[in-house]
Amino acid sequence: MALTGLENEKLSLLIFGGKGGVGKTSCAIASALALSENFKTLLISADPAHSLSDCLEQNIGYKVVKIAGIENLSAIEVVAEEAMSEFLNGHRSELKKLLTTSTNLDDDDIEEMLALSVPGIDEVMSFKTILDFIEAGDYDKYVVDTAPTGHALRLISSPEMLDEWIKMAARMRWKYRYMITSFSGSYQHDEVDALLLSLKKTVKRIESILRDKTRCEFIPVCIPEAMAVNETERLLGELSKTGIKPQQIIVNNVMVSEGCSFCTKRKNSQLPYLREISEKFRNMNMVQVPVFPEEVKGLNALSEMKKYLFEDKK
Ligand SMILES: Nc1ncnc2c1ncn2[C@@H]1O[C@H](COP(=O)(O)OP(=O)(O)O)[C@@H](O)[C@H]1O
Ligand SMILES: [Mg+2]
Repeated sequence: MALTGLENEKLSLLIFGGKGGVGKTSCAIASALALSENFKTLLISADPAHSLSDCLEQNIGYKVVKIAGIENLSAIEVVAEEAMSEFLNGHRSELKKLLTTSTNLDDDDIEEMLALSVPGIDEVMSFKTILDFIEAGDYDKYVVDTAPTGHALRLISSPEMLDEWIKMAARMRWKYRYMITSFSGSYQHDEVDALLLSLKKTVKRIESILRDKTRCEFIPVCIPEAMAVNETERLLGELSKTGIKPQQIIVNNVMVSEGCSFCTKRKNSQLPYLREISEKFRNMNMVQVPVFPEEVKGLNALSEMKKYLFEDKK
């Protein structure tokens, strides 16, 4: 089978996830290459250990660049810390005001607090950056390559985390608001309220795109080995808790050759796991990609992978 439905006009966000080293980056790029044949496509790496540059053999950084030799394909490596510091710099005065008006912290404490990294906030900002790209609408398809399982899950659950933060900030504000109202009789919404409201809208927009099957698809990548199969099962379990139900799965590194005894042994050792994958994920479209004799690096190798993902070539 090949990947299906990715050409649907409404489907704009594709997220590749799975265990480390199973081929997420290779599959994400190969899919972006295929989509770019008919759609303006942006490939986004949200993996802190960015590997698009290595795989595409072209320097990519925290700025959208066109991929040389491929019309309609651009790429960016989102750096969470930079996304976070852009946010802090853009909203420093509102955040300071939030802390000044709702805590007893002095200026130095506030500066210290703003410099602290809040666990998980980087992923929130990465996702916000991805959402900003989607909402700017310059591309038809946004293909996201994630870091191993835990990171992808944090990325997916990042809106929830941001929502918790907003609720806490709103509670802090509530006391301030109450105080102002009792002193002056009325309360005017200020820039802090505006920021909280706009963040709340961001949360809602991220959640709505993630849960909309017509607009977003999560594609797990797996290999026929015990640990990868178990991790995929856990990943799918966690995803379903957040309302995301992948429709298709890529099984990479499948041994096809029987040309030598080593190959035959490898092939046989994969059989039980291939069976397990077909049983455990039987409701999903399974796409197999063979193991290549060389690493998947450069446009030629990626195009080869693309054929297996999209052309029903087995
Ligand atoms: N089908 C394949 N055959 C041979 N090598 C592969 C295949 N898929 C991926 N690789 C290689 O395996 C390594 C890990 O792949 P990568 O796409 O970076 O995985 P991930 O992003 O999941 O960590 C890379 O060196 C890549 O070139
Ligand atoms: Mg990778």
